[in-house]
Amino acid sequence: MMSRRKKIYEGKAKILFEGPEPGTIIQYFKDDTTAFDAQKKAILEGKGVVNNQISAFIMQSLNAIGVPTHFIRTMNMREQLVREVEIIPLEVVCRNVAAGSISTRLGMEEGTPLPRSIIEFYYKNDALHDPMVAEEHITAFNWASTQEIDDIMALTLRVNDYLFGMFAAVGIKLVDFKLEFGRLYEGDMVRTVIADEISPDSCRLWDTQTNEKMDKDRFRRDLGNVTEAYVEVARRLGILKTAAAGGGGGGEAVH
Ligand code: TMP
Ligand code: ASP
Repeated sequence: MMSRRKKIYEGKAKILFEGPEPGTIIQYFKDDTTAFDAQKKAILEGKGVVNNQISAFIMQSLNAIGVPTHFIRTMNMREQLVREVEIIPLEVVCRNVAAGSISTRLGMEEGTPLPRSIIEFYYKNDALHDPMVAEEHITAFNWASTQEIDDIMALTLRVNDYLFGMFAAVGIKLVDFKLEFGRLYEGDMVRTVIADEISPDSCRLWDTQTNEKMDKDRFRRDLGNVTEAYVEVARRLGILKTAAAGGGGGGEAVH
């Protein structure tokens, strides 16, 4: 099925294929998992299926509250149809609780609540290891305009408020997450929309009661049961038809 479509781009966790209509793209979720600039790699069976479902559910919810995303619809277990956008070369991180690189950089114990939500920008460039940058760099080097940065920050805070509440309702603490944005061209209009994915690969999610990690840190830190934790996130959100992600291939249809 997928072999007939023209591949546009292959990333570490996803493949993009030409969509059925101009301006659309098919996003295929692989089981491949990488960390630390792909120095650490594994194939986690079923992960792509769960992330496809979680990301679709979140993007759909955001569309419904008027936060624009590239998401159109789920196609099957591993694929979703999205709008073609021009990716802004930034990784936008929003943090509620200290963990990961901010803990290392600023010497803060993991789990320390931050005085307010903090947004950070990283330049999307694997060869440079996605260095942290300031707004000054972003505008000086034309990666995004001042208006786009304003839009990105406003949208990121809305996503944070929405997701924080959504996860809190199912006993999960949204510690931090990463967003990517794209430019959607509609005639002579350009809109800033959320692109890529929002899944346990791009968020830190801790069980509210036990602080157990339910995200990619299970892979980064060799904690085991990575896919199982992602499936539990999906189960709590009420978006899994069955308890197990299974072999990732056949079985029950989504939507
Ligand atoms: P960090 O603490 O390593 O800077 O990560 C912050 C958040 O961004 C965390 O939720 C994981 C996510 N993230 C990605 O999605 N991709 C990446 O390449 C990195 C480094 C982090
Ligand atoms: N996704 C990044 C990588 O492959 C890093 C990470 O998420 O830790 O290398």
